Amino acid sequence: MLVGQRQYRTIWVLENSGQCLPTVAIIDQTKLPHALVIAHIADLPQMVVAIKTMQVRGAPLIGASAAYGIALAMQHDASDAYLNYAATQLIQSRPTAVNLHWAVQRMLTLLTSIANSSRSQVAWAEAAAICDEDVVLNQAIGQHGLALIESAQKNASQNAAQTQVFNILTHCNAGWLATVDFGTALSPIYAAHNAGLKVHVWVDETRPRNQGASLTAWELGQHGVPHTVISDNAGGHLMQQGLVDMVIVGADRVTSTGDVCNKIGTYLKALAALDNHIPFYAAVPSPTIDWSMSNGLDEIEIEQRHGDEVAYIQGLAADGSLQSVRVIPSESPTANPAFDVTPARLVTGIITEHGVFSPDRLVRHG
Ligand code: MRU
Repeated sequence: MLVGQRQYRTIWVLENSGQCLPTVAIIDQTKLPHALVIAHIADLPQMVVAIKTMQVRGAPLIGASAAYGIALAMQHDASDAYLNYAATQLIQSRPTAVNLHWAVQRMLTLLTSIANSSRSQVAWAEAAAICDEDVVLNQAIGQHGLALIESAQKNASQNAAQTQVFNILTHCNAGWLATVDFGTALSPIYAAHNAGLKVHVWVDETRPRNQGASLTAWELGQHGVPHTVISDNAGGHLMQQGLVDMVIVGADRVTSTGDVCNKIGTYLKALAALDNHIPFYAAVPSPTIDWSMSNGLDEIEIEQRHGDEVAYIQGLAADGSLQSVRVIPSESPTANPAFDVTPARLVTGIITEHGVFSPDRLVRHG
């Protein structure tokens, strides 16, 4: 997507000249929206840190990053032992998003079937293929979601003198920053905006790390999509006031039965949407569906992150530096579950690259 005049993906390879080996470039998401910083990842340990500290984040992007983590590992040491070590390190870096596990498993299956001498070259090519595929899946999600928005907006405007602005609420960041490009939940919104539909996005701030306020607001702004940042607690009220026409979120793992695991707070939005008869959709590329699981509440491991993310807020100080300030009493304990599970019964539909499905009618392709 465009940042200023330049086209970016969230991750790409730098073919360094001379004796230098390729490295991986990422947009460091811990610095947004205040600075666009490109970080260079040169080896497996640096990639593991980038995933854990959320310099890269979002389910599809951490899958792509893990694939490049394997490629970096293979260019250092292509032995079976190091391949298995790299896979374990990457899989343990963040537990909830199935895309990470999926990408590492895909790399492992391919690389264990070939000679060590070919592994580095093949790993770089396979990681690039995972990235390119992600872009294609997300574009298809955009087109299916666009059709949904178009027909919902037409219905809403039937009795109105002119086409109404269509208000979509989203949670966390499931935009291009969370993927290689285009995003999942935001892909239909970009498609609708590009098609000339009047859309406006309510952006949940998404405490504790504020991915909505920092990342979703930034990327929508770069693309010129009208949006308003709201506190996490405002969504239910806006729905009661008739100011939300649709909710679209991303997901980190969807079970075969349509339970949707996404950023903490998603469940409350689904409850409020149901109470107000507002359609609630999850936009999900197929690598996010975990066909081995059928009960999200019991089976999905919820990442527990450090309590300092709750105790502190990061922002831009008057002198232009990024600073953290404490917002809770020093003696108060914290809890920081990073995801929750929205049961399928609260989900209107799952938007995939193959079309829109009822959560209890997910179909496996390929
Ligand atoms: O903890 P994060 O920022 O990696 O969580 C991201 C989300 O929950 C997104 O909504 C999800 O990964 C969807 S990705 C397009």
